[in-house]
Amino acid sequence: MTQFKNDNFLKALYREPTPYTPIWMMRQAGRYLPEYRATRQKAGDFLSLCKNPNLATEVTLQPLDRYPLLDASILFSDILTVPDAMGLGLYFAAGEGPKFQRPLRDEADIQKLKIPDIDKDLKYVIDAVSQIKSALQGRVPLIGFSGSPWTLATYMVEGQGGTDFLTIKQMAYSRPDLLHHILKTTTEAVTQYLQGQIEAGVDTIMIFDSWGGALSHQGYLEFSLPYMKVILSNLKMMSSKKIPSIMFTKGGGLWLEDQVTAGSDALGLDWQTDIGIARQKVGQKVALQGNLDPAILLSKPEAIEKEVKRILDGYGAGTGHIFNLGHGITEHTPPENVDVMLTAVREYSQQFHIK
Ligand code: CP3
Repeated sequence: MTQFKNDNFLKALYREPTPYTPIWMMRQAGRYLPEYRATRQKAGDFLSLCKNPNLATEVTLQPLDRYPLLDASILFSDILTVPDAMGLGLYFAAGEGPKFQRPLRDEADIQKLKIPDIDKDLKYVIDAVSQIKSALQGRVPLIGFSGSPWTLATYMVEGQGGTDFLTIKQMAYSRPDLLHHILKTTTEAVTQYLQGQIEAGVDTIMIFDSWGGALSHQGYLEFSLPYMKVILSNLKMMSSKKIPSIMFTKGGGLWLEDQVTAGSDALGLDWQTDIGIARQKVGQKVALQGNLDPAILLSKPEAIEKEVKRILDGYGAGTGHIFNLGHGITEHTPPENVDVMLTAVREYSQQFHIK
């Protein structure tokens, strides 16, 4: 067990008292930081950076060195390492986001889909976790993560991001058996992958269901939520170490009551959801993480402070809130605006916590 210098993030996940509202940011290590861009250049490209544990450790720590008010670190990697390890051939075309050389379209390919050997095909991630954990020296907890099976399947079937999901939805409606086969296989892969991260030392795991909100209500209950539930309950059975979990469905604010049934300790909220209403609905059962619109960080200090206060007021007094953005920080964010947000959260949130 790590002795932490600062474990307010873990305490808030368990809804235990903290002196202020802890905070971290989705994509906190990324292109808005000049030091990240320099390391990425040293690596050659983004994927080579992910696959080099020394450099992945370096960029994971960059935001913590720059911003001492951050309360958590997150493994530097990508959700698409799993389908890459399943043989789909991930690449990033300049300025176009992720793509797969061999998207899953025909039945024969889908039936052949294999669970990767985590200790071999994803060893670079497991090694990065071990290195990051020792480099952190207990400063703050480390978050491990994976994509949800549904979100990974959207990339695997569509072959790229930024689509309207018509190919995978066509499969969902015409051949649900094929989609369920992809989701089942991916669920097993994700479970083993997260189990590997837990054994290597992560202190929390987060499931990113970035495209759950593209589904209909019934679709979410059939194709996304149940698979996240299986992962969370299998991890609980498999792991000797009990660590907290966070589930984040972007665009999932309408389904919070359904989400609590999956068994995570916290739910991530996107910026479209009202955090006060969310707390009324599910705050007795789970912690809530979120949910500043990342676009606010492109504006002025006064606007940032106003929105930070609105969210902290909206959640109100008591524990169980982890401040975050409603989605990843954008690459156009001026790094000094992050300081404004961090200071505002640290100063303004103390009144909501018992001294
Ligand atoms: O939060 C962190 O700091 C950890 C790192 C992290 C990255 N991706 C780094 C990254 C995490 C947790 C992710 C998760 C991820 N990746 C998600 C789920 C979260 C979300 O944003 O909804 C998704 C959907 C992906 C897939 C992905 N990776 C896309 C769509 C893109 C391109 C979009 C973009 O911002 O350019 C990536 C690339 C990516 N992943 C970058 C980073 C820092 C930018 C790559 C670069 O350096 O050029």
